[in-house]
Amino acid sequence: MSIAAVARIAYLTADAVVDSLPLPPKQSPFAETYTYLQKESSHHPRTFSTPFGGDAGATIIRNATSLTSFSAVASAQSLTRILLHIGEISNLPVVLHLAVQHNLADVLLLRSSVPFFLLSRTAQEAHDHALLAARLARVEKKAVVHAFYLDDSGPSARELQEERIQPFLLQEPGSSVDSRNGHLTEQALQNSLLHQSYATATLDTETLLQRPLQPFQSHGPSDPHTSIFVLGHNKIVLDLDGISFVNVNLANPFPSDQISMVVPPSVKRVIVLEQVYGWHSKWTPLYLDILTALQERTSTGDLTIHSAVLGVSDRFEAADILKLLGQRSESPTVRLQLGVVPEESSPSTWLPHIPKHEAAYTKILAHLFQDQLDIANSPELVESQGQIATTPEFALGRVRGQIDSRTELIKTIQELLLDGNISDDLHALSSKWILAKDDPVKSRALGKAIVDRLAASSTCSHTEKQIVSLQDGFPSRSRWIVGSDTWSYDLGASGLHHAIASGLDVNILILDTLPYSSRNSADPHRRKHDVGLYAMNHGDVFVASVAVFSSYSQVLQAIVEADKFKGPSIVLAYLPYQSENTSALDILKETKLAVDSGYWPLYRWDPSKEKEGKEPFSLDSDAVKNDLKQFLDRQNHLSQLSRSKPQMAAELVSSLGETVKEARKKKAQDAYSSLLNTLDAPPLLILYASDGGAAEKKAKRLSNRAKARGLSVTLATLDSYSLETLSQEEYVVFVTSTAGQGEPPQNGRNFFKSLNAAVAKGEPVFSKLRFSVFAMGDSHYWPRPEDAHYYNKPGRDLDARLEKLGGERVSPLGLGDDQDADGSETGYKVWEPAVWKVLKVDSVEVTEAEPEPITNEHIKAASGFLRGTISEGLQDFSTGALATSDTQLTKFHGIYQQDDRDIREEREAQGVEPAYSFMIRVRMPGGVCKPFQWLQMDQIADEHGSGTFKITTRQTFQFHGVIKKHLKPAIQDINRVLLDTLAACGDVNRNVICSAIPSLSKLHQQVYDFSKAASEHLIPSTTAYHEIWLDKKLVAGEALKDFEPLYGEFYLPRKFKIAVAVPPTNDVDVFANDLGFIAIVGEDGELQGFNVTIGGGMGVTHGNKKTYPRLGSLIGFCTPEQGKFVAEKVMLVQRDNGNRTDRKNARLKYTIDRMGLDNYKAEVEKLLGYSLAPARPYTFNRNVDDFGWHTGQDGKHHFMMFVENGRVQDEPGKEFKSGLREIAKVHKGSFRLTANQHLMVSDVLDGDLDLIKGLLKKYGLDELGFSGLRLSSSACVAFPTCGLAMAESERYLPLLIDKIEKICEENGLRNDAIVMRMTGCPNGCARPYVAEIAFVGKAPGNYAMLLGGGYYGQRLNKIYRESVTEPEILAILSPMIKRYALERENGERFGDWTIRAGYIAPTTEGRLWYENSGGQGVHREGVPISVAT
Ligand SMILES: Cc1cc2nc3c(=O)[nH]c(=O)nc-3n(C[C@H](O)[C@H](O)[C@H](O)COP(=O)(O)O)c2cc1C
Ligand code: SF4
Repeated sequence: MSIAAVARIAYLTADAVVDSLPLPPKQSPFAETYTYLQKESSHHPRTFSTPFGGDAGATIIRNATSLTSFSAVASAQSLTRILLHIGEISNLPVVLHLAVQHNLADVLLLRSSVPFFLLSRTAQEAHDHALLAARLARVEKKAVVHAFYLDDSGPSARELQEERIQPFLLQEPGSSVDSRNGHLTEQALQNSLLHQSYATATLDTETLLQRPLQPFQSHGPSDPHTSIFVLGHNKIVLDLDGISFVNVNLANPFPSDQISMVVPPSVKRVIVLEQVYGWHSKWTPLYLDILTALQERTSTGDLTIHSAVLGVSDRFEAADILKLLGQRSESPTVRLQLGVVPEESSPSTWLPHIPKHEAAYTKILAHLFQDQLDIANSPELVESQGQIATTPEFALGRVRGQIDSRTELIKTIQELLLDGNISDDLHALSSKWILAKDDPVKSRALGKAIVDRLAASSTCSHTEKQIVSLQDGFPSRSRWIVGSDTWSYDLGASGLHHAIASGLDVNILILDTLPYSSRNSADPHRRKHDVGLYAMNHGDVFVASVAVFSSYSQVLQAIVEADKFKGPSIVLAYLPYQSENTSALDILKETKLAVDSGYWPLYRWDPSKEKEGKEPFSLDSDAVKNDLKQFLDRQNHLSQLSRSKPQMAAELVSSLGETVKEARKKKAQDAYSSLLNTLDAPPLLILYASDGGAAEKKAKRLSNRAKARGLSVTLATLDSYSLETLSQEEYVVFVTSTAGQGEPPQNGRNFFKSLNAAVAKGEPVFSKLRFSVFAMGDSHYWPRPEDAHYYNKPGRDLDARLEKLGGERVSPLGLGDDQDADGSETGYKVWEPAVWKVLKVDSVEVTEAEPEPITNEHIKAASGFLRGTISEGLQDFSTGALATSDTQLTKFHGIYQQDDRDIREEREAQGVEPAYSFMIRVRMPGGVCKPFQWLQMDQIADEHGSGTFKITTRQTFQFHGVIKKHLKPAIQDINRVLLDTLAACGDVNRNVICSAIPSLSKLHQQVYDFSKAASEHLIPSTTAYHEIWLDKKLVAGEALKDFEPLYGEFYLPRKFKIAVAVPPTNDVDVFANDLGFIAIVGEDGELQGFNVTIGGGMGVTHGNKKTYPRLGSLIGFCTPEQGKFVAEKVMLVQRDNGNRTDRKNARLKYTIDRMGLDNYKAEVEKLLGYSLAPARPYTFNRNVDDFGWHTGQDGKHHFMMFVENGRVQDEPGKEFKSGLREIAKVHKGSFRLTANQHLMVSDVLDGDLDLIKGLLKKYGLDELGFSGLRLSSSACVAFPTCGLAMAESERYLPLLIDKIEKICEENGLRNDAIVMRMTGCPNGCARPYVAEIAFVGKAPGNYAMLLGGGYYGQRLNKIYRESVTEPEILAILSPMIKRYALERENGERFGDWTIRAGYIAPTTEGRLWYENSGGQGVHREGVPISVAT
């Protein structure tokens, strides 16, 4: 294949390779070879790819080296930008390798401007010419076009070995071949010199390849009457009487002086066959050259020369030639034809393709401006205006034309108004239009009225006629030019400059699609964010930098401000994607990385504000908001911004103090340890890598034990040691766990990378290292036989590789397996003694007790009723974090420390601490809040958090991304509206949840009051909360003292959750809670009391069979008055009997199973002093929310809306946050949050109904046309904020549902509810274990799949597959859903059916959760799943 041969030579000869990409979704045909060579070759040129329509010419010039290879498939688009720079390029050492389909017209456009032009027909020729071209370009320092055909189906080329290529290019030129003769004109001399260069380079190449290379090949008799020149795909070599063929390989410099030799005097007719279609002028290129060369002979009439088109054919026969000769034409401009000429492709196939992701921004423009929007380079114009319509030059011209004609219209209307003869109504309309000409709606309507009025008039003055001709200018428009790599030519180049310099009132939207993670490998000139600085420096230009996947509202704001600005506005929009297949999630992540690291800061620069005395610069990126603002205030913002550009934010937010502090701390620690260590004890280095803390705990214990044996110990993480430092050590013990799928934990990854690199090099690094490894893993984490190699992989790899690098293994590898009876301790007990033996301390008697590890129980007890050192930590600005033990305590205050996991590695690479921020959870029993509280929450999210907030599965608000400095103000703002965060998390009773039932108003009020009372009754009494966060001001006037009558100083062993359900709705999943109250309502509709359930709980640890989910067990009935005391006593029995040594076994569910349900109940009744009444009958039938409008018994109205996974944010078409803010401003009732993470606008009065409905509609909040599956789904937060997440959840479930929804739709199940839930880890925040289908995260992209849960939360599901990826999920669900649709019985739910159909066994009891898991019968675990490809 020519393409591979050419790409290889292009790569191996050049110092820089520029590949011009085709129209997406096509791939560059050269790329495959380039990618291969990047890995396999020892030659490494710099490589660039310019997107379709991008300015490839500029890239070539910027990156010019001693030899640049440019490659492209020839098209008008790919070559136009080269042509613009051709003057400069032709004097650079560049080879332009251009692949041609059939038509040479596009490439021949370059011919006259480039000194050398070679054409290849076969793969061999393409290979040889590519080499020749490289040699020629390099020696002559001039551009060479090498055109070759894409579809050569002939034999492949014999290729020159790589090692001979560079020496050939660098060798001295051979002796020059002088082909000059006689006296020459300057032009001829020039031509002749070029020829000489060509001849010399050809000779050198022929010597190397041992194959002839000729400018043209002649075939035929020595005295022909007809000569046929051929420039095209087919080399014609036929033996025909009197006819010779000349196949041209060198089109420039054209060897005119040799033409007379191949056209002997016997020739009477010359035919020039060129494969050129749709040529723009009368004369084709080669024809002209031959005509010039043979001019003398044509002028005597001895010779006629015809131009002919060479069509497309595999092979031409003698008969075809004779047919060609038979064609007669007197006029030289009428061209003959050989073969069939392909039809020109229709213009519509040239329509620019706009990748789907990019529509995100254009949709916003359309949404905001509607009729008013005018995109001056819209691809829709291509059909009427041609290709040029998408260029910025065209668009700018168009805008200028439109603005000029509107100015003319305004002038003409003003003239009309001065005309005393016009009618009153026309006068009135015209003057109104002048006043309203900038109003998009009025200007359009008035304009139309004026035109109608003029049309109706019988007489029309000149002025009036002119107005009609200018009528397009009546409506006020928002004019935009859109620039993106794929849509339009690169606006970042000259187009932008012209637009800015024009001063026109035009808006330019420039999309940057370069993903953050590819930023360093791409051409820096593609970085459009630098354009902003350029534009700002220019002066009177509005500039904004936005990213729709980071802040939708900021995009809206920027676009509206750009439109308002009188003058040029530039909006730089970030949309990172590699291809159309890039998922929205990846775009989101890339955007986040770019924005959070400061690479793509979000800002707006409005110079008009400066004139009003306001600050023109607003920085909108959340993470750097304040620091950067202060910085900009202090400094001259522009110069600073430009100086510090991309690293700017990263440097600002990195706490340099932290590094110094760390260094000081380490020094002190080292001094301390050396003091403690006995002088003659053998030193031992313990290195560990751990994600979840288990391996770290083991390493620490090992360290204590080693010290107790008199060893001098250093303990550190794996990543804190380089191979070099390690090679200085003698005894080293490694403890590493396993993460992901056989991957090393986060704090060991860099070490593993350098270890692997050293192994690849194959040189021993260690001369004295003696090592032993203890690996920790779980042999059942990935249970499929084909995944067995993931078991303890990092530890096993480490053990083998250390040996490979020269280390000496002093004791055998230890393997800790979570599946062993004693977990990893089983393996550890065997391994540790061997280590002591090697170190010769095995006989040392250890008398002192080992220091007890610090547990949560210690932290709680030592905290001074939840104070710890939180207050001091808040004052420490050298770090964004709190002390580790304080982070356990803040949970009791409703605060979790987190870090942004999307950018964890990035920050580590930058050498800065993780991007710490906090999650704040509000305590709001029953999930009811008032509009003023909602407004406050909305504002808190903007001012202190990430700009969005979440409705959680516990019916409350949760804010993410609150940085330390903002913690206290945020908590104070929450308290200001009579809410708090106390006990929203931690080992206490959490937020009490209750059914949101819309229609039973009275009942709702009663259960809501009950929930509130229970919550208040169980609240911790400490004053620490008020002291730390509220400066001792008390919330809502309650007096609090510093002792804990209910909890004691240890609080509870683990969290405690209460739910109140009102049958038949189980929207709170009452059985998933430690304590459940099921409302029992009398025939009179009055609340009689509650059935009580105890022992529900969701959290599980993957692979740890001591952990399991459990449903609450019914223990009796209590009255509403008894309820809160029942709650108290159930909690107290747990407080005193729960397991405090193992947090994984500490929840009430385990206590009950250990004590026995009856015993537990008896303890509760003992404390109560009475027995609970027998439970009463009740019926549940659903746990999904009742979406839509409902009217309560009290006549008030309620609207249950769908908020996907509870995330309150603005998105294109779904402006939840803005919409709800507007509703809250006018709403007089309340809001109810549901435990399914949805929201009810409740208690709407008749008189307000229309207003609320209008607002719901306006913001798209009344949309309920979702599938039953989506409406019944829910997901927890997981990445990026939840520290425990192992896989995506909230960001991924909607995308997965998109796909599963299709399967449901295909099987007629669009409206059927199937409860599907996803969590990022087995903790189970979204209550996955009671869903009909659930996915529980195990590692990125990998989930445990569970089936068989009860539709209304009455039955646990069970693991169906231990690990599935998306293709597997779809392959499993596709036939399953189909069968369900066909086989289900009337009203049969999916969860019930999966059991009946034999996919899964029913779970009868939590304790038996693992029994029969993994499917049953033919569906059981281990039966291969066929994966859709
Ligand atoms: C997300 C995740 C992925 C895991 N992947 C593996 C694995 O591929 N192979 C394995 O043997 N163990 C695996 N494990 C088990 C852990 O290595 C094991 O539980 C270990 O004790 C955890 O130690 P750590 O808390 O120090 O990280 C995985 C555990 C988790 C949480
Ligand atoms: S289920 Fe796990 S990943 Fe999801 S929010 Fe809860 S702890 Fe985080």
